[in-house]
Amino acid sequence: MAKRKLRLAVLISGTGRSLKNLINRISTGELSAEVAVVISSTPSAVGLQYAEEESIPIEIIERHNYPTLRAFSEPIFQICRDMYVDYVVLAGYLKLLDIPSDFHEKVLNIHPSLIPAFCGKGYYGNIVHSKVLEMGVKISGCTVHFVDEHYDNGPIILQKAVDVLEGDTADKLNDRVFAAECIAYPEALELLAEGRVTVQGRIVKIAPKKSPHALEIDF
Ligand code: GRF
Repeated sequence: MAKRKLRLAVLISGTGRSLKNLINRISTGELSAEVAVVISSTPSAVGLQYAEEESIPIEIIERHNYPTLRAFSEPIFQICRDMYVDYVVLAGYLKLLDIPSDFHEKVLNIHPSLIPAFCGKGYYGNIVHSKVLEMGVKISGCTVHFVDEHYDNGPIILQKAVDVLEGDTADKLNDRVFAAECIAYPEALELLAEGRVTVQGRIVKIAPKKSPHALEIDF
């Protein structure tokens, strides 16, 4: 299958480091995509500056303006339809969404631990890394997964492990995990652009990369 250039909606709530990373990877040609729209859950998200710098359209949809999860999610996905978005990328986005059927397996998240450890409601930011240190585990990492109606729960696309080192603080571990995230998120999106991802229940299968030099011979 030929590689596509994905149209992405990136959803943020905070500093937007992941958004900035995706913008950088697109500009270097490492990621075959464009950010069609940035949707923030708050007008005070610092990461909105990166969208402004790139003249990417911005939408602010705040949860408290809507009576139900469905009513809140509806305008978000309508924007994505209107913008012909292929994938919705949660990047430090802190709200639950009600995903309509046409966006099933079209919404991705990255979580700063190896799911199913240290994830779920309340596990975000340095809370995750503090718990990892508290438990004394020796390996942590990040997980890119499809999003379903539960926090950090959908089928796992890829994971990257990092060592937990003696003397780590939550901040130090966060930096090491975030460095892995900066590779993992674009890598997962690139797999989707290459059409190599299929989902069977909870299991995500990644087709091998076709060599550009492979001969296609019909006998
Ligand atoms: C990262 O830790 C990521 O795993 C989580 O949000 C953090 C990035 O947020 N989903 P931001 O991009 O700095 O706002």
